Amino acid sequence: MSVQSDIKRLTAPDIFARKGAEPIVCLTSYHAHTARLVDKYCDVILVGDSLGMVMHGLETTVPVTLEMMILQGHAVMRGSRRALVVVDMPFGSYEASKEQAFMNAARVLKETGCGAIKVEGGARMAETIAFMVERGVPVMAHVGLTPQSINTLGSFRAQGREEADWARIEQDTIAVAEAGAFSVVIEAVAEPLGRKLTAAVRIPTIGIGASAACDGQILVLEDMLGLSPRVPKFVKRYGDLGLGIEKAVADYAADVRARAFPGPEHVYPMKGKKA
Ligand code: KIV
Repeated sequence: MSVQSDIKRLTAPDIFARKGAEPIVCLTSYHAHTARLVDKYCDVILVGDSLGMVMHGLETTVPVTLEMMILQGHAVMRGSRRALVVVDMPFGSYEASKEQAFMNAARVLKETGCGAIKVEGGARMAETIAFMVERGVPVMAHVGLTPQSINTLGSFRAQGREEADWARIEQDTIAVAEAGAFSVVIEAVAEPLGRKLTAAVRIPTIGIGASAACDGQILVLEDMLGLSPRVPKFVKRYGDLGLGIEKAVADYAADVRARAFPGPEHVYPMKGKKA
């Protein structure tokens, strides 16, 4: 007996089909409650390993574990109904071999119910991407600035600022597209390069600080909401929730100190007595 769900989610092939068409709206989310809010407006929700920095206050994404990704991936699946949920493979969970990558990606798909995974790296990951895709794992690739390589890069600086670096980033983008990735995140590259990469491949490019020439955009939700202490320069702020939360908490603290809050007598009046 098959159990059909009434939830019709977007799939990796749906996103692939959006190349050159309506821009693809993507945001990160790590929780059921934010997933519920963004699901209505987003085509893709990424459970990014940026959760290590945003939720846990880590300096980099390197310490993030597969268990952390699975836990939050599951939460985002519970909170959403419509968007394609993509879960990041964390550092150390896919680079050693294509078999390691497949086994861990299969675990993420099985244990979260998400529709795709994301891996960082260009040409060096092409064989692994092809191996996973051939075995039923939809893969979103990630080139340009790849934050998991922070210890070899030395900083989170934009990539391709010199034209001499463009050929390498273009080869990376073409390699992951040819390997079968259904889309590719391009992070922190100059506008003309973002445009060139988008024209070079038949899969959608999802930019983050990579120009409006890409087929879609992704931002870290907390960055665009004004909740992150440090935000990359290219991020447009759509809210100032940090200030709003601080004000609400200050008002609450003042009410508690002044005993100016409703007690149970207002909520559950004693029977036979006036509230
Ligand atoms: O981890 C993440 O949130 C990401 C996005 C910034 C693309 O990889």
